Amino acid sequence: MAQNNHEFIERSVGWMIVLTLLTVSVGGLVEIVPLFFQKSTTQAIDRDGNSLNVKPYSPLQLTGRDVYIREGCYNCHSQMIRPFRAETERYGHYSVAGEYIYDRPFQWGSKRTGPDLHRVGGRYSDEWHRAHLINPRDVVPESNMPGFPWLERPIKADDIEKKMQMLRMVGHPYTDEEIAGARASLQGKTEMDAVIAYLQGLGTALSNFK
Ligand code: HEC
Repeated sequence: MAQNNHEFIERSVGWMIVLTLLTVSVGGLVEIVPLFFQKSTTQAIDRDGNSLNVKPYSPLQLTGRDVYIREGCYNCHSQMIRPFRAETERYGHYSVAGEYIYDRPFQWGSKRTGPDLHRVGGRYSDEWHRAHLINPRDVVPESNMPGFPWLERPIKADDIEKKMQMLRMVGHPYTDEEIAGARASLQGKTEMDAVIAYLQGLGTALSNFK
């Protein structure tokens, strides 16, 4: 009987599709749902429960993050250091989930044409980043990263309050004063300043554990 049932399913494509989807969905949910409730993925703590110094992005960093996404930096750079010796010796402490609680969406990426950037914060000076982003070959002669000279233009800041309000709705603790002062804090800044501020903050929350 059992064998006949199985034969029936394998012979009728419709049932096969429905039951396969059902099985995969249940399996997927069992793996994914607990992560929404686990402290190590929803709070700013490392795997041992120590609290991390993770802060929501400043208006300037938030703008820089959007430029990073717009320019497609994630196509060549990951932001996720795996817990392997070859990675930790090159980049620093492996990434932990609690570091990303204010990344919506996170920029883990999956392709490394260039190096991982998750611990790049503080590694170079602002001047280095500026020179590098305008023309990478000026500081890294063998680089094949494209230049982004057009980032030297003023930030369009008209939507910064809306962005911060939206992020507050999903739990980023911005105060009313921070949101009210956001536009003024972007006055006179360029997109280049914003990307650099974003890069300089990357991965620094875990620095005490290095
Ligand atoms: C086509 C692939 C590509 C794109 C797109 C790209 N990069 Fe790169 N990036 C590289 C490569 C390759 C290197 C290594 C050579 C070098 O340092 O220039 C690099 C290096 C870097 C470094 C130095 C990392 C280190 O640890 O030395 C930073 C910072 C960086 N990129 C930032 C950016 C930002 C920000 C953007 C988007 C505005 C971007 N990259 C877009 C390929 C890319």
